[in-house]
Amino acid sequence: MTIAKLYDFPRMGDERGGLVAMDQTSGVPFDIKRVYYVLGTRPGVTRGLHAHKKLHQIAVCVAGSCRMTLDDGIEREDVIMDSSKVVVDLPPMLWHEMHDFSADCVLLVLASDYYDESDYIRDYIKFKDTVI
Ligand code: TYD
Repeated sequence: MTIAKLYDFPRMGDERGGLVAMDQTSGVPFDIKRVYYVLGTRPGVTRGLHAHKKLHQIAVCVAGSCRMTLDDGIEREDVIMDSSKVVVDLPPMLWHEMHDFSADCVLLVLASDYYDESDYIRDYIKFKDTVI
């Protein structure tokens, strides 16, 4: 893979089950200011379809699966997020789309800042013009 940067957070746990902690000491490259999750996505729906100007995020399917398409303005790459071991970096200026959500998918996202609509680039042509 050339575009996708994946994280490998330490997996802890014992005979009772697993536990994964995500913070700056375990590899998150920013101060987490917001956590959100996407769930109940209807069949056939594509989400994302944007890039962020400054926001840095990390995404992981903590249940179910989806396909994340990453686009740096030159290349596109698909990451199949079918395990909580697949933790994807979403740095600023990386176009991302999420497809093929399973009915039980819960996509957890850690973000470096609060929600700000003015940080979004939702127009792919504008994104390409900015990044190239
Ligand atoms: P959006 O980022 O477009 O979601 P997706 O990429 O999954 O399609 O956000 C969907 C809606 O939710 C939009 O109206 C903005 C709102 N929203 C918030 O209010 N706070 C948030 O932290 C996020 C991520 C979205």
